[in-house]
Amino acid sequence: MIYITGDCHGDYRRFSTENFPEQKKMTREDFVIVCGDFGYWDHSKEQEWQRKWLSEKPFTLLWVDGNHENYDMLAELPVEDWHGGKIQHIRENVIHLMRGQVYELDGIRLFAFGGARSHDIHGGILDPDDPDFRRKYRTLRRAGAWFRVNHVSWWKEEMPDEAEFEEGRRNLERAGWQVDFIVTHCTASSTQVLAGGPLYQPDALTDYLEEIRQKCRYRKWFFGHYHDNRNVTEKDLMLYEQIIRIV
Ligand SMILES: [Fe+2]
Repeated sequence: MIYITGDCHGDYRRFSTENFPEQKKMTREDFVIVCGDFGYWDHSKEQEWQRKWLSEKPFTLLWVDGNHENYDMLAELPVEDWHGGKIQHIRENVIHLMRGQVYELDGIRLFAFGGARSHDIHGGILDPDDPDFRRKYRTLRRAGAWFRVNHVSWWKEEMPDEAEFEEGRRNLERAGWQVDFIVTHCTASSTQVLAGGPLYQPDALTDYLEEIRQKCRYRKWFFGHYHDNRNVTEKDLMLYEQIIRIV
């Protein structure tokens, strides 16, 4: 079985047995995929407790990264090979699917590519090393501005680099540009237009995903980031709290 859902932002209540009773029939050979903004933020007691709770689930939880993850913490984790692609273990059954990887899961071929540009940063990004940091922080706080702090609530790695783009192309080339499922956080530029009209601006990542969309044959493409559950086309599905079964 493979289930899939959208952004969690560190809130995993949807995976309780009460909200997701299907897990009673699942084993670690069955998967639940999160389309980014999983909520890998810090080593706080609360987050450690949540990760322990997830580690006791009967299924294997797979997630691509979103724009809100702690990329400094992710960089500390070893990279391993798993089902044909690179991953990082958060717990034995909680696995980070890395950008540009193709995985084979029980005859299903899946392409993963996380990351997205943050929309909620109109107030700017503050640098904690800035001598004027405290004053700027207070001013923005008081103004109710949408801002973030570098290495605390924002990381430049939310956007992929050229090496990651190339890695994706190389792995798709090896897969003959044909997969069953694509799992990302944001989506291709043209899908974004269909999803939100002029609300969302294209960027280097959505343009890259557009290139993938044009070139790669796929059955379904699942993405998060836009905080809604909607079939944008027959093949392109936006997910948020809904958990749907795909295999
Ligand atoms: Fe999100």
